[in-house]
Order: sequence, then C-alpha cells, then structure tokens
Amino acid sequence: MESEVKKLNPIYFDEATEEILSSLEKTRCEFWNLDRDCANFLNTLIKINNSKNVLEIGTSNGYSGIWILKALKETKGKLTTIEFWEKRQSVARNNFKICAPDVEVEPRIGSAKIVLEDILDDINKGKREKFDFVFIDANKKEYIEYFELVDKMLEDKGIILADNILSHYEKVQDYTVALFNNKNYQSQILELGTGMMLSRKA
Ligand SMILES: C[S@@+](CC[C@H](N)C(=O)[O-])C[C@H]1O[C@@H](n2cnc3c(N)ncnc32)[C@H](O)[C@@H]1O
Repeated sequence: MESEVKKLNPIYFDEATEEILSSLEKTRCEFWNLDRDCANFLNTLIKINNSKNVLEIGTSNGYSGIWILKALKETKGKLTTIEFWEKRQSVARNNFKICAPDVEVEPRIGSAKIVLEDILDDINKGKREKFDFVFIDANKKEYIEYFELVDKMLEDKGIILADNILSHYEKVQDYTVALFNNKNYQSQILELGTGMMLSRKA
C-alpha cells in the first residue's frame, strides 16, 4: 500500500533522490533539517508562487535545498544558499548534484550577515537580480538582522518563509513583531513543524 501511495504521489521523487532524502531523514535532529511535511510545504509554495530566484539562509546538509531544487526544476529557477560550515555545505553540494543535477545552485560559504551584505552590494550595483522567495533557517537570534537585509533584496510580492517560529519563540520574537508591524508585509504564523512564519511583501 505504502509503495502504491509513493508511486502515485507527486511528492515522492526518483529512486536516487528518495534514497538520499531517507538517509538524511534518519539524522535530521543532528542537522536540524525540516521534517518532510514542512519540506513539502516549502516545495509547494515555491511552485504556487512560480518563484524563480530563491535564497536560503541555512543550508546544512542540503535536505531543504533538495526540496527547493525540485520545485525550481519546474519553475526553471535558481537557488542561492548560505552556510557557514564548509563541511556541511560540501555534503549539500554533493546531494544537490545527485538529486537535481540540472538545476542551478550558488552555494555561498560564510556568516549569513556578511554574505547577505555582499549579495546586496551586487544587487545595488546591478550585478544580480533581486530574489522572489527567501527561506530563513539559520541563527534564530539573527532573524531580525537577516530581515533588515533581505527586505532590501526581495522583489515586491516576494515571499519570506521563516522556520522555528514557535520552537524558538523568544529568540525570534523581535522578527515576528517586526514583520507583524510592518505595513509592507502580510504575515501569518503556521503551526507546521516547529512553527513557520509566512510573509508576503505587499
Ligand atoms: C536549522 S539548520 C538548516 C537546516 C536546513 N535548512 C534543512 O532544513 O535542511 C541551520 C544551519 O544554519 C547554519 N548557520 C547557523 N548560523 C549561521 C550563520 N550565522 N551564518 C551561516 N550559517 C549559519 C548552521 O550551521 C546550520 O547548518
């Protein structure tokens, strides 16, 4: 029965991808990966929004990145993903090659705030496009600082999805309050996984 569901359900991918996903799912608590429901939500959202230029803050070993790339294969988009731990990002790069070899990825290694400043500088100089979707999942205390930079590099009608909103309620409180009080954003906290905040730039 389970294998029948897997064959019919579009959220189950090719064999090589499923093998990598299920091996990452075994260590998800160690690498703080999304659970499968949240990853499926992220993937669906990118497709619904037809997002083509996605930024992820917090690559880890690439679990969520694989789901993002699977969506970007459909929308013909690109992922830029930031991680300060080189070893983790090299595992992620390897996973991306196996699961989504034909989707463009720009892995960036470094402290998120510094990399974000670099990217913003490139956007301001016209060297790269703004993003239409941002997934925030790195240092919880820094969410508010990520937002201050991300806001300047997000297109109108762009989406921000932030994880761990309920599990790290206090650490991310300045972020949630700032978003709810920002007239340029419409936001909702979702009781999905560890709590996700979905925000759309007006
Ligand atoms: C929650 S995990 C990301 C999980 C990943 N999004 C997934 O679901 O597969 C957070 C990652 O962000 C990285 N990280 C934490 N603080 C960071 C920072 N200031 N700059 C860059 N990366 C950071 C950590 O090393 C960790 O791998």
